[in-house]
Amino acid sequence: MTELPPIVREVKLLGYDSGELKAEHFAVVQAAATAPGPGQVLVRNRWFRVSISTRLMAEAGAEAVQGIPFPPLKPGDTLADGAIGQVLQAGPGVDLAVGSLVMHPLGWRDHALVNADQCTLIDTPQIDPAAWLGHGWTAYAALVKGVQVRPGDTVLVTSGAGAIGCMAGQIARLLGASRVIGTTSSQAKARWMQTELGYDAVVTRDAGPVREQLAQVAPQGIDVIVDMVGGEQLAAALEVARHGARCVLLGAVSAELNPHSATLKAPVELDTFQLILRGVTLRGFSADEEAPELFDAWIRQLANWQGEGGLHIAHTLVKGLDQAPLALQEACAGRLKGLVLVELE
Ligand SMILES: NC(=O)c1ccc[n+]([C@@H]2O[C@H](COP(=O)([O-])OP(=O)(O)OC[C@H]3O[C@@H](n4cnc5c(N)ncnc54)[C@H](OP(=O)(O)O)[C@@H]3O)[C@@H](O)[C@H]2O)c1
Repeated sequence: MTELPPIVREVKLLGYDSGELKAEHFAVVQAAATAPGPGQVLVRNRWFRVSISTRLMAEAGAEAVQGIPFPPLKPGDTLADGAIGQVLQAGPGVDLAVGSLVMHPLGWRDHALVNADQCTLIDTPQIDPAAWLGHGWTAYAALVKGVQVRPGDTVLVTSGAGAIGCMAGQIARLLGASRVIGTTSSQAKARWMQTELGYDAVVTRDAGPVREQLAQVAPQGIDVIVDMVGGEQLAAALEVARHGARCVLLGAVSAELNPHSATLKAPVELDTFQLILRGVTLRGFSADEEAPELFDAWIRQLANWQGEGGLHIAHTLVKGLDQAPLALQEACAGRLKGLVLVELE
Protein backbone atom coordinates (compact mmCIF):
# COMPACT_ATOMS: atom_id res chain seq x y z
CA MET A 1 0.00 0.00 0.00
CA THR A 2 1.32 3.50 -0.85
CA GLU A 3 2.36 5.55 2.17
CA LEU A 4 0.34 8.51 3.39
CA PRO A 5 1.76 11.87 2.27
CA PRO A 6 3.34 13.80 5.20
CA ILE A 7 0.98 16.75 4.70
CA VAL A 8 -1.88 17.62 2.39
CA ARG A 9 -2.87 21.06 1.06
CA GLU A 10 -6.32 22.46 0.42
CA VAL A 11 -8.02 25.77 -0.37
CA LYS A 12 -10.30 27.22 2.29
CA LEU A 13 -12.67 30.18 2.29
CA LEU A 14 -11.39 32.88 4.65
CA GLY A 15 -14.47 35.06 4.31
CA TYR A 16 -16.48 36.84 1.62
CA ASP A 17 -19.55 39.03 1.86
CA SER A 18 -20.57 39.97 -1.68
CA GLY A 19 -19.32 42.03 -4.63
CA GLU A 20 -16.08 41.27 -6.46
CA LEU A 21 -14.65 37.90 -5.48
CA LYS A 22 -10.88 38.06 -5.00
CA ALA A 23 -8.11 35.52 -4.51
CA GLU A 24 -7.46 37.00 -1.06
CA HIS A 25 -10.83 35.70 0.12
CA PHE A 26 -9.20 32.24 0.12
CA ALA A 27 -6.08 30.62 1.59
CA VAL A 28 -4.11 27.49 0.78
CA VAL A 29 -3.62 25.66 4.09
CA GLN A 30 -1.80 22.52 5.17
CA ALA A 31 -3.28 19.64 7.13
CA ALA A 32 -2.29 16.18 8.26
CA ALA A 33 -3.26 13.38 5.88
CA THR A 34 -5.88 10.92 7.10
CA ALA A 35 -5.97 7.25 6.17
CA PRO A 36 -9.22 6.12 4.52
CA GLY A 37 -11.80 4.48 6.75
CA PRO A 38 -14.32 1.81 5.70
CA GLY A 39 -15.86 2.64 2.32
CA GLN A 40 -13.40 5.48 1.68
CA VAL A 41 -10.44 6.09 -0.62
CA LEU A 42 -7.59 8.57 -0.42
CA VAL A 43 -7.10 10.11 -3.85
CA ARG A 44 -4.14 12.14 -5.09
CA ASN A 45 -5.84 14.75 -7.25
CA ARG A 46 -4.35 15.57 -10.64
CA TRP A 47 -6.93 18.01 -12.03
CA PHE A 48 -9.97 19.86 -10.77
CA ARG A 49 -12.55 22.20 -12.23
CA VAL A 50 -13.09 25.83 -11.22
CA SER A 51 -16.75 26.94 -11.47
CA ILE A 52 -18.21 30.41 -11.21
CA SER A 53 -21.03 28.99 -9.05
CA THR A 54 -18.53 28.88 -6.18
CA ARG A 55 -19.03 32.64 -5.81
CA LEU A 56 -22.75 32.16 -5.22
CA MET A 57 -22.06 29.52 -2.59
CA ALA A 58 -19.30 31.57 -0.89
CA GLU A 59 -21.52 34.61 -0.25
CA ALA A 60 -22.43 35.32 3.35
CA GLY A 61 -25.75 33.61 4.11
CA ALA A 62 -25.65 31.22 1.11
CA GLU A 63 -27.96 28.25 1.55
CA ALA A 64 -28.11 24.80 0.02
CA VAL A 65 -30.34 24.74 -3.05
CA GLN A 66 -31.99 21.61 -4.44
CA GLY A 67 -30.60 21.15 -7.95
CA ILE A 68 -27.33 23.06 -7.41
CA PRO A 69 -24.50 20.58 -6.86
CA PHE A 70 -22.41 22.92 -4.67
CA PRO A 71 -22.72 23.07 -0.88
CA PRO A 72 -22.87 26.54 0.72
CA LEU A 73 -19.48 27.59 2.15
CA LYS A 74 -18.77 29.12 5.55
CA PRO A 75 -15.46 30.72 6.50
CA GLY A 76 -13.03 27.87 7.22
CA ASP A 77 -14.69 25.44 4.78
CA THR A 78 -12.66 23.73 2.07
CA LEU A 79 -13.94 24.43 -1.45
CA ALA A 80 -15.17 21.54 -3.61
CA ASP A 81 -15.67 20.86 -7.32
CA GLY A 82 -15.25 18.02 -9.80
CA ALA A 83 -11.80 16.40 -9.77
CA ILE A 84 -9.82 13.53 -11.26
CA GLY A 85 -7.09 11.72 -9.37
CA GLN A 86 -5.39 8.45 -8.59
CA VAL A 87 -6.36 6.19 -5.70
CA LEU A 88 -3.46 6.16 -3.20
CA GLN A 89 -5.08 4.06 -0.47
CA ALA A 90 -8.38 2.20 -0.25
CA GLY A 91 -10.17 1.55 3.04
CA PRO A 92 -11.87 -1.71 4.05
CA GLY A 93 -14.74 -2.81 1.86
CA VAL A 94 -13.66 -0.80 -1.20
CA ASP A 95 -13.11 -2.55 -4.51
CA LEU A 96 -11.22 0.29 -6.24
CA ALA A 97 -7.62 -0.74 -6.86
CA VAL A 98 -4.73 1.42 -5.70
CA GLY A 99 -3.48 3.33 -8.75
CA SER A 100 -6.85 3.50 -10.51
CA LEU A 101 -8.03 6.81 -11.91
CA VAL A 102 -11.30 8.19 -10.56
CA MET A 103 -13.52 11.23 -11.00
CA HIS A 104 -15.13 12.58 -7.81
CA PRO A 105 -16.55 15.83 -6.35
CA LEU A 106 -13.68 16.89 -4.01
CA GLY A 107 -11.35 19.16 -5.94
CA TRP A 108 -9.62 22.25 -4.51
CA ARG A 109 -7.16 20.03 -2.55
CA ASP A 110 -4.14 17.99 -3.55
CA HIS A 111 -5.39 14.89 -1.71
CA ALA A 112 -9.03 14.01 -1.11
CA LEU A 113 -10.60 11.56 1.31
CA VAL A 114 -13.64 10.48 -0.69
CA ASN A 115 -16.44 7.97 -0.20
CA ALA A 116 -15.86 5.28 -2.79
CA ASP A 117 -19.49 5.49 -3.90
CA GLN A 118 -18.86 9.10 -4.99
CA CYS A 119 -16.08 7.96 -7.33
CA THR A 120 -16.50 7.14 -11.02
CA LEU A 121 -13.81 4.80 -12.28
CA ILE A 122 -12.09 6.07 -15.42
CA ASP A 123 -11.13 2.84 -17.07
CA THR A 124 -8.83 4.10 -19.79
CA PRO A 125 -5.07 4.81 -19.66
CA GLN A 126 -5.02 8.08 -21.67
CA ILE A 127 -7.56 10.67 -20.68
CA ASP A 128 -8.35 14.22 -21.57
CA PRO A 129 -9.40 15.78 -18.23
CA ALA A 130 -11.34 18.51 -20.04
CA ALA A 131 -13.55 15.86 -21.62
CA TRP A 132 -14.49 14.36 -18.26
CA LEU A 133 -14.61 17.47 -16.07
CA GLY A 134 -15.88 19.88 -18.71
CA HIS A 135 -19.42 20.93 -19.45
CA GLY A 136 -19.51 19.47 -22.94
CA TRP A 137 -21.91 16.85 -21.70
CA THR A 138 -24.18 19.53 -20.21
CA ALA A 139 -24.31 21.19 -23.62
CA TYR A 140 -24.74 17.83 -25.36
CA ALA A 141 -27.57 16.77 -23.03
CA ALA A 142 -29.28 20.15 -23.44
CA LEU A 143 -29.10 19.89 -27.24
CA VAL A 144 -30.21 16.29 -27.65
CA LYS A 145 -32.67 16.00 -24.74
CA GLY A 146 -33.53 19.52 -23.57
CA VAL A 147 -34.30 20.65 -27.11
CA GLN A 148 -33.71 18.82 -30.35
CA VAL A 149 -31.60 20.70 -32.85
CA ARG A 150 -32.73 20.01 -36.41
CA PRO A 151 -30.74 20.32 -39.62
CA GLY A 152 -30.93 23.89 -40.87
CA ASP A 153 -31.73 25.47 -37.50
CA THR A 154 -30.39 28.87 -36.51
CA VAL A 155 -29.10 28.47 -32.95
CA LEU A 156 -28.26 31.16 -30.41
CA VAL A 157 -25.93 30.37 -27.49
CA THR A 158 -25.77 33.05 -24.79
CA SER A 159 -22.46 33.27 -22.90
CA GLY A 160 -21.15 31.46 -25.95
CA ALA A 161 -17.50 31.66 -24.82
CA GLY A 162 -18.23 30.23 -21.36
CA ALA A 163 -17.64 26.72 -20.04
CA ILE A 164 -20.94 25.36 -21.37
CA GLY A 165 -21.35 27.85 -24.20
CA CYS A 166 -18.01 27.10 -25.91
CA MET A 167 -19.18 23.51 -26.33
CA ALA A 168 -22.84 24.23 -27.08
CA GLY A 169 -22.04 26.28 -30.19
CA GLN A 170 -19.83 23.57 -31.66
CA ILE A 171 -22.19 20.72 -30.76
CA ALA A 172 -25.17 22.54 -32.25
CA ARG A 173 -23.26 22.78 -35.53
CA LEU A 174 -22.31 19.09 -35.43
CA LEU A 175 -25.98 18.25 -34.86
CA GLY A 176 -26.95 20.06 -38.03
CA ALA A 177 -27.45 23.74 -37.21
CA SER A 178 -26.80 25.85 -40.27
CA ARG A 179 -26.17 29.13 -38.46
CA VAL A 180 -24.74 29.47 -34.93
CA ILE A 181 -24.72 32.79 -33.11
CA GLY A 182 -23.15 33.52 -29.73
CA THR A 183 -23.11 36.33 -27.19
CA THR A 184 -20.16 37.62 -25.19
CA SER A 185 -18.80 40.75 -23.52
CA SER A 186 -16.19 42.11 -25.90
CA GLN A 187 -15.04 42.28 -29.50
CA ALA A 188 -11.81 40.46 -28.60
CA LYS A 189 -13.74 37.45 -27.25
CA ALA A 190 -16.09 37.63 -30.24
CA ARG A 191 -13.15 37.33 -32.66
CA TRP A 192 -11.82 34.34 -30.70
CA MET A 193 -15.25 32.68 -30.78
CA GLN A 194 -15.50 33.04 -34.55
CA THR A 195 -11.94 31.85 -35.18
CA GLU A 196 -11.62 29.07 -32.61
CA LEU A 197 -15.19 27.92 -32.02
CA GLY A 198 -16.69 28.45 -35.47
CA TYR A 199 -19.52 30.85 -34.57
CA ASP A 200 -21.00 32.49 -37.66
CA ALA A 201 -21.75 35.70 -35.77
CA VAL A 202 -21.35 37.04 -32.25
CA VAL A 203 -23.21 39.87 -30.55
CA THR A 204 -21.54 41.70 -27.68
CA ARG A 205 -22.71 43.44 -24.54
CA ASP A 206 -20.59 46.49 -25.40
CA ALA A 207 -22.25 47.13 -28.79
CA GLY A 208 -25.74 48.40 -28.02
CA PRO A 209 -29.10 46.71 -27.48
CA VAL A 210 -28.89 42.93 -27.94
CA ARG A 211 -32.32 42.90 -29.63
CA GLU A 212 -31.08 45.16 -32.44
CA GLN A 213 -27.86 43.21 -32.90
CA LEU A 214 -29.77 39.91 -33.07
CA ALA A 215 -32.16 41.30 -35.67
CA GLN A 216 -29.13 42.11 -37.82
CA VAL A 217 -27.28 38.80 -37.51
CA ALA A 218 -30.42 36.61 -37.60
CA PRO A 219 -32.82 38.46 -39.94
CA GLN A 220 -34.92 35.29 -40.39
CA GLY A 221 -35.15 34.77 -36.63
CA ILE A 222 -33.85 32.07 -34.27
CA ASP A 223 -35.00 28.44 -34.00
CA VAL A 224 -33.12 27.26 -30.91
CA ILE A 225 -31.94 29.28 -27.91
CA VAL A 226 -29.46 27.81 -25.41
CA ASP A 227 -29.57 30.33 -22.60
CA MET A 228 -26.96 30.64 -19.88
CA VAL A 229 -27.48 34.36 -19.18
CA GLY A 230 -31.14 35.33 -18.64
CA GLY A 231 -32.11 39.02 -18.36
CA GLU A 232 -31.85 41.28 -21.40
CA GLN A 233 -30.26 38.56 -23.55
CA LEU A 234 -33.04 36.05 -22.97
CA ALA A 235 -35.76 38.65 -23.54
CA ALA A 236 -34.10 39.81 -26.78
CA ALA A 237 -33.63 36.24 -28.02
CA LEU A 238 -37.31 35.43 -27.45
CA GLU A 239 -38.36 38.57 -29.29
CA VAL A 240 -36.62 37.32 -32.43
CA ALA A 241 -37.60 33.67 -31.93
CA ARG A 242 -39.27 32.13 -34.99
CA HIS A 243 -42.51 30.22 -35.05
CA GLY A 244 -41.95 26.89 -33.25
CA ALA A 245 -38.70 28.04 -31.64
CA ARG A 246 -37.36 26.01 -28.72
CA CYS A 247 -35.48 27.51 -25.81
CA VAL A 248 -33.52 25.59 -23.18
CA LEU A 249 -32.69 27.51 -20.02
CA LEU A 250 -29.49 26.24 -18.41
CA GLY A 251 -28.30 29.11 -16.23
CA ALA A 252 -28.56 32.82 -15.50
CA VAL A 253 -25.05 34.24 -15.18
CA SER A 254 -26.44 37.78 -15.37
CA ALA A 255 -27.80 37.06 -11.87
CA GLU A 256 -25.11 34.66 -10.68
CA LEU A 257 -22.32 37.04 -11.66
CA ASN A 258 -24.19 40.22 -10.75
CA PRO A 259 -21.33 42.59 -9.83
CA HIS A 260 -23.00 43.63 -6.55
CA SER A 261 -24.28 40.35 -5.21
CA ALA A 262 -24.67 36.85 -6.61
CA THR A 263 -28.33 35.90 -6.68
CA LEU A 264 -30.52 33.03 -7.78
CA LYS A 265 -33.30 35.45 -8.70
CA ALA A 266 -33.32 36.24 -12.42
CA PRO A 267 -36.63 37.94 -13.23
CA VAL A 268 -37.23 38.99 -16.81
CA GLU A 269 -40.18 40.62 -18.60
CA LEU A 270 -41.49 38.58 -21.52
CA ASP A 271 -44.35 39.17 -23.96
CA THR A 272 -46.09 35.85 -23.35
CA PHE A 273 -48.80 36.60 -25.92
CA GLN A 274 -46.13 36.62 -28.60
CA LEU A 275 -44.72 33.34 -27.31
CA ILE A 276 -48.18 31.75 -27.53
CA LEU A 277 -48.84 33.10 -31.01
CA ARG A 278 -45.48 31.78 -32.23
CA GLY A 279 -45.70 28.45 -30.39
CA VAL A 280 -42.40 28.98 -28.60
CA THR A 281 -41.31 26.34 -26.06
CA LEU A 282 -39.27 27.25 -22.97
CA ARG A 283 -37.70 24.47 -20.93
CA GLY A 284 -35.59 24.72 -17.79
CA PHE A 285 -33.05 21.91 -17.85
CA SER A 286 -30.48 20.42 -15.48
CA ALA A 287 -28.14 17.89 -17.05
CA ASP A 288 -27.30 16.38 -13.64
CA GLU A 289 -30.95 15.88 -12.76
CA GLU A 290 -32.46 15.05 -16.13
CA ALA A 291 -29.81 13.36 -18.21
CA PRO A 292 -27.14 11.58 -16.10
CA GLU A 293 -27.56 8.55 -18.39
CA LEU A 294 -26.17 10.61 -21.29
CA PHE A 295 -22.70 11.02 -19.76
CA ASP A 296 -21.32 7.75 -21.20
CA ALA A 297 -22.93 8.47 -24.57
CA TRP A 298 -21.27 11.91 -24.48
CA ILE A 299 -17.79 10.47 -23.86
CA ARG A 300 -18.23 8.09 -26.83
CA GLN A 301 -19.69 10.78 -29.09
CA LEU A 302 -16.92 13.18 -28.13
CA ALA A 303 -14.25 10.65 -29.15
CA ASN A 304 -15.95 10.27 -32.54
CA TRP A 305 -16.22 14.01 -33.11
CA GLN A 306 -12.65 14.63 -31.95
CA GLY A 307 -11.43 11.81 -34.21
CA GLU A 308 -13.07 13.58 -37.13
CA GLY A 309 -11.38 16.82 -36.02
CA GLY A 310 -14.73 18.47 -35.52
CA LEU A 311 -14.64 19.52 -31.88
CA HIS A 312 -12.30 21.59 -29.77
CA ILE A 313 -12.64 21.57 -25.95
CA ALA A 314 -11.78 25.19 -25.25
CA HIS A 315 -10.30 25.53 -21.80
CA THR A 316 -7.97 27.56 -19.65
CA LEU A 317 -5.39 25.40 -17.83
CA VAL A 318 -3.91 26.80 -14.63
CA LYS A 319 -0.97 25.05 -12.96
CA GLY A 320 -0.71 24.53 -9.21
CA LEU A 321 -3.07 24.73 -6.24
CA ASP A 322 -1.68 28.15 -5.25
CA GLN A 323 -2.99 29.61 -8.53
CA ALA A 324 -6.53 28.27 -8.08
CA PRO A 325 -8.01 31.19 -6.06
CA LEU A 326 -6.75 33.65 -8.70
CA ALA A 327 -8.28 31.47 -11.42
CA LEU A 328 -11.64 31.65 -9.65
CA GLN A 329 -11.31 35.43 -9.32
CA GLU A 330 -10.52 35.77 -13.04
CA ALA A 331 -13.30 33.38 -14.09
CA CYS A 332 -15.88 35.33 -12.09
CA ALA A 333 -14.58 38.60 -13.58
CA GLY A 334 -15.17 37.17 -17.09
CA ARG A 335 -11.47 37.32 -18.01
CA LEU A 336 -11.11 33.59 -18.87
CA LYS A 337 -12.48 31.54 -21.73
CA GLY A 338 -14.12 28.14 -21.79
CA LEU A 339 -13.72 25.57 -19.05
CA VAL A 340 -11.25 26.46 -16.27
CA LEU A 341 -9.11 23.57 -15.03
CA VAL A 342 -6.35 23.43 -12.41
CA GLU A 343 -3.57 20.91 -12.93
CA LEU A 344 -1.70 19.68 -9.87
CA GLU A 345 1.90 18.41 -9.77
N1 LIG B 1 -28.40 23.38 -16.19
C1 LIG B 1 -27.26 22.71 -16.02
O1 LIG B 1 -27.22 21.48 -16.17
C2 LIG B 1 -26.04 23.47 -15.62
C3 LIG B 1 -24.83 22.80 -15.35
C4 LIG B 1 -23.72 23.57 -14.99
C5 LIG B 1 -23.84 24.94 -14.89
N2 LIG B 1 -25.04 25.56 -15.11
C6 LIG B 1 -25.24 27.02 -15.04
O2 LIG B 1 -25.07 27.50 -16.38
C7 LIG B 1 -24.54 28.83 -16.34
C8 LIG B 1 -23.29 28.87 -17.17
O3 LIG B 1 -22.28 28.10 -16.52
P1 LIG B 1 -20.79 28.16 -17.05
O4 LIG B 1 -19.98 27.40 -16.07
O5 LIG B 1 -20.74 27.80 -18.49
O6 LIG B 1 -20.49 29.69 -16.86
P2 LIG B 1 -19.81 30.68 -17.89
O7 LIG B 1 -20.73 30.89 -19.05
O8 LIG B 1 -18.43 30.20 -18.18
O9 LIG B 1 -19.80 31.99 -17.00
C9 LIG B 1 -18.76 32.91 -17.00
C10 LIG B 1 -18.98 33.90 -18.13
O10 LIG B 1 -20.22 34.60 -17.93
C11 LIG B 1 -20.18 35.80 -18.67
N3 LIG B 1 -20.71 36.89 -17.83
C12 LIG B 1 -20.19 37.41 -16.72
N4 LIG B 1 -20.99 38.38 -16.20
C13 LIG B 1 -22.04 38.48 -17.03
C14 LIG B 1 -23.19 39.31 -17.06
N5 LIG B 1 -23.42 40.22 -16.13
N6 LIG B 1 -24.06 39.13 -18.07
C15 LIG B 1 -23.86 38.21 -19.02
N7 LIG B 1 -22.77 37.39 -19.05
C16 LIG B 1 -21.88 37.53 -18.06
C17 LIG B 1 -18.70 36.06 -18.98
O11 LIG B 1 -18.50 35.69 -20.34
P3 LIG B 1 -18.40 36.78 -21.52
O12 LIG B 1 -17.27 37.68 -21.14
O13 LIG B 1 -18.12 35.93 -22.71
O14 LIG B 1 -19.74 37.46 -21.55
C18 LIG B 1 -17.98 35.02 -18.13
O15 LIG B 1 -16.75 34.59 -18.68
C19 LIG B 1 -24.33 29.17 -14.87
O16 LIG B 1 -25.46 29.88 -14.44
C20 LIG B 1 -24.25 27.80 -14.20
O17 LIG B 1 -24.67 27.84 -12.86
C21 LIG B 1 -26.12 24.83 -15.50
